Amino acid sequence: MLKLSNVTKRFGSLVAVNDLSLEVEKGQIYGIAGPNGAGKSTIYNLITGFYSYEGKIEFEGKPINGLRPYQIVKRGISRTFQIPQTFPSLSVEDSIDIGNRFGNTAAYSRKRVDEVIDFVNLNRERKHKTGTLDLLGKKKLMIGAALATRPKMLMLDEPMAGSNAHEIKALMELIRRINQELGITIIIIEHFMKVLTELTETLLIIETGTEICCGHPAEVTNDPAVIECYLGREDDQG
Ligand SMILES: Nc1ncnc2c1ncn2[C@@H]1O[C@H](COP(=O)(O)OP(=O)(O)OP(=O)(O)O)[C@@H](O)[C@H]1O
Ligand SMILES: [Mg+2]
Repeated sequence: MLKLSNVTKRFGSLVAVNDLSLEVEKGQIYGIAGPNGAGKSTIYNLITGFYSYEGKIEFEGKPINGLRPYQIVKRGISRTFQIPQTFPSLSVEDSIDIGNRFGNTAAYSRKRVDEVIDFVNLNRERKHKTGTLDLLGKKKLMIGAALATRPKMLMLDEPMAGSNAHEIKALMELIRRINQELGITIIIIEHFMKVLTELTETLLIIETGTEICCGHPAEVTNDPAVIECYLGREDDQG
């Protein structure tokens, strides 16, 4: 469904993404992990049209190189950001309606707002200003606004960051339902390995923009190169 072929992104002399190729199959949950600064968020910024790059990115068999972010959304790719971003003075329902209007305009329907608010379970807060939401509420809102664009693929950037065990459980459940009930393909960047091994079918580990290993999470987490660069050797842990 999504195919990156030999994608490279340079910021001056820094190579943030280095000749990366990957393929995400329709319907799957695909995980990306790696140390801080590995280039994970940059991959999202390339796919969603924020930066130019070398190489080729295709979605549903068609190249999306050079498209602007709003055009990428209309193709059916939506994302959330690493740091929760909301419009603090807007209500939950109006914020979700912005996503709704940003998506495929021909298919716009106000009903979509109610469906999304139900789906992410923000009914009680729908009239509240988004600035008053707690962290879990803000995350559900961000995911809701992304869903309101009617994506075929949703890309989540460290959705669990800063969350406690209860919030992680709620978000994992929500991500599973998005995948299973709505049939949306998901890419998730995450540092919590347990979340990735439980949720994903394919896991890519990168370091300094370069693929270290890609495959089934159980194999990847046992790969010596991954243990060396990212998970740490057992004898390192004291
Ligand atoms: N707009 C930019 N200009 C210059 N350098 C950038 C820019 N965006 C990212 N970088 C650099 O590219 C590298 C990869 O950054 P990126 O944010 O993709 O890492 P990451 O894997 O998402 O890290 P983290 O786990 O901390 O979120 C880093 O060295 C970062 O400083
Ligand atoms: Mg990042």
